[in-house]
Amino acid sequence: MFDARQDALDRARDQTEAFLKKSEERGKLPQGAAAEALARWQGTSELATLAQCDIVIEAVFEDLTVKHQLFQALDRVCPERTIFASNTSTISITEIAGGSGRPDRFVGMHFCLPAQLMKLIEMSPGLATSDGTFQRAWAFAEAMGQKPVATQDTPGFILNYFLIPFNNDAIRLVEQGVAEPADIDLAIKTALGYPMGPLELLDLVGMDTQKLLCEAMHGLTHEPRAACPPLVRRMIAANRLGKKTGEGFHVYGDTKMFGA
Ligand SMILES: NC(=O)c1ccc[n+]([C@@H]2O[C@H](COP(=O)([O-])OP(=O)(O)OC[C@H]3O[C@@H](n4cnc5c(N)ncnc54)[C@H](O)[C@@H]3O)[C@@H](O)[C@H]2O)c1
Repeated sequence: MFDARQDALDRARDQTEAFLKKSEERGKLPQGAAAEALARWQGTSELATLAQCDIVIEAVFEDLTVKHQLFQALDRVCPERTIFASNTSTISITEIAGGSGRPDRFVGMHFCLPAQLMKLIEMSPGLATSDGTFQRAWAFAEAMGQKPVATQDTPGFILNYFLIPFNNDAIRLVEQGVAEPADIDLAIKTALGYPMGPLELLDLVGMDTQKLLCEAMHGLTHEPRAACPPLVRRMIAANRLGKKTGEGFHVYGDTKMFGA
């Protein structure tokens, strides 16, 4: 795992450890599996370390310029065979690939939160992605025990095409004072059978990321329900980003991620 910030790496390591140990305690992993997995975990702030990777999955800020800068640096470091993948939720795979130096070996791999529990990966080829690249990335997703689903390179792919407007509707219910966040989540979970309510999910996504997702989706589709609700901006100003700051629509006793 590579991150520009050491504190982000430390947090990722701690959350991974907590999740794996809890899974072991609950009998979902055999005894000793957590220690084995953690022994394979490597964190680095040195980009050159990624030269050994067959595939690099990027998940930096939802910003095309930041992603292009990172991929240009990676292209100088990684060998020809390395596939580049992006976890972007809303930016075009073809556009990111265009600034990566290797658009033929580039693919969209959109994981679904909480990624340690959810199986879905939306797999999108860019216009220049070679069939061989797509097949190798698909096989890698299956080897991780995930469930890949093919989708074209369109705004929000399948999941966020539904989820961004849907989650914004839940935020607008809070803005209008229609119901308390806990009751909105309870209604959706009870009636639709979702494991998490939309406001619980938004707390996990983070208001800062939700704002970027809305701006990207609304800018591309002009769908009014995708526009960022003003409450999201106020919550960002108040540092109520969600679970990562301990408070969003709900208040958390600690800042551990879901499932940890
Ligand atoms: N939050 C979600 O629900 C979710 C779900 C699926 C996909 N995504 C996608 O994942 C990506 C990241 O979103 P997030 O919510 O995790 O954002 P985040 O802000 O929580 O985390 C981004 C991380 O990237 C690091 N970073 C930024 N620039 C970097 C660089 N140049 N080099 C190395 N590290 C860098 C930051 O230090 C930070 O740790 C986005 O493309 C987003 O669309 C997010």
